[in-house]
Amino acid sequence: MKILIVDDENISRNILLAKMTDMGTCVAVDNAKEALTEIDKAKAENQPFDLITLDVSMPGMSGMELLKHIRKKEGEDKIPKKDRVKIIMITARMNLGTINACIKLGCNGYLTKPISKVQLIQSLSQMGFDTGTEEKTGEERMSHSEGVAEVIKRFYSGKIILPVFPNIVKEVEELLAGKDPSVEDLSKIVEKDLVISSKLITIANSSLYKGLDDVTSLNGALVRLGLKHTLGVCSALATKNLFDSENKVLKTEMDKLWIHSFAVATLARRLAEEIGLDNLETIFLMGLVHDIGKMLLMKVFVDMYPDVSILDEDLQRAIHEIHTTFGGVLLKKMHFSKQIIKIAEFHHWDRFEENTDKELLVLSLANSLARELGFLFFSEKDTPGLEEGDLALETNNELELDHDQVIKDLSRLSSLQVLELDPEKVFSIIEQTHPMIKETVRAF
Ligand SMILES: [Fe+2]
Ligand SMILES: [Fe+2]
Repeated sequence: MKILIVDDENISRNILLAKMTDMGTCVAVDNAKEALTEIDKAKAENQPFDLITLDVSMPGMSGMELLKHIRKKEGEDKIPKKDRVKIIMITARMNLGTINACIKLGCNGYLTKPISKVQLIQSLSQMGFDTGTEEKTGEERMSHSEGVAEVIKRFYSGKIILPVFPNIVKEVEELLAGKDPSVEDLSKIVEKDLVISSKLITIANSSLYKGLDDVTSLNGALVRLGLKHTLGVCSALATKNLFDSENKVLKTEMDKLWIHSFAVATLARRLAEEIGLDNLETIFLMGLVHDIGKMLLMKVFVDMYPDVSILDEDLQRAIHEIHTTFGGVLLKKMHFSKQIIKIAEFHHWDRFEENTDKELLVLSLANSLARELGFLFFSEKDTPGLEEGDLALETNNELELDHDQVIKDLSRLSSLQVLELDPEKVFSIIEQTHPMIKETVRAF
């Protein structure tokens, strides 16, 4: 593989060079002009580059302009799409607008600085490059990121069984989107899934929905839950199943991630209601699956390396670094909608523009709030890249929030600013939703 690295910053150019030298022949330059010379030279020698990494912001011609130029030239030369050079954009800031513009211009992927080897391997594997397949045996010393890289390679070579999301959720969704859905129609769909239908009865009898008497039939449960709530509850039951494991340590981690996902889903639905969106149950589902990449990465890692502790900080960091792009690819393979895939991919980006999808803004905000809520704590608040930490569901019964600090934190969030939400309003939503989440999450 022939690689061209274009970056004006010495340090990041060298980092990329070091990480890619064993993947192919690398040429590194610090500006667009030299890059064009190298591209022409390679073409004249009939050995064009397979991959180019472009720093988005460079003095003179920027990475984005260079991308546009390369694609235009390829168009003029009538190079078929599949033979065009693969281009990865490198950006220092998680600015969604910039990346969206680059995607439109025809980049194949993007990476955010600081770039790690796992990120790089995830991105290259996604594009179909072979990044080397030396599998190490358990005897050899293996770094955690190498382990995660192996998981990635196995995934892209189709050797990993994908999680199955029960069809029932889609069927219920379609029914509700249609004309005059009835409880009878709903019942016909739900009764096909014995586990979900029996759980629906239990949940209808939980304190959240409980009426005067216990319901004992599926029909009774559906009537009590109502059509819309049934969809949410079905989604949650279906998702909860994915977060299961026979490994005890992993099971605890999966529970934490599930509670986090449930909290994000509930908060997102509430926020969406506040700003007047109408696809509330889809937004709820988005929250449930937003971290699905993390779920599968952890599971497969434990399967492949049962002797390595999943709690290791370096390992968690490596998983965190790629869980978004990986989650997006996973949801695509599971045939989820484009809108849901986007949520998995971009929920950690932190600079949003006016025209960003409301759904993404709401989910990103809910993810930030879930941390404030104490459903998640950074085990060490300042460790970069760590999201899921100690779970305080048992001990943290009373929500103790430092009002002024939370308002200050909230005001800084780009998602909240673009949604034009009042931080005080959001604070009160946190306070109302917290006990509700704690109460409901146990029912599943
Ligand atoms: Fe996440
Ligand atoms: Fe999350």
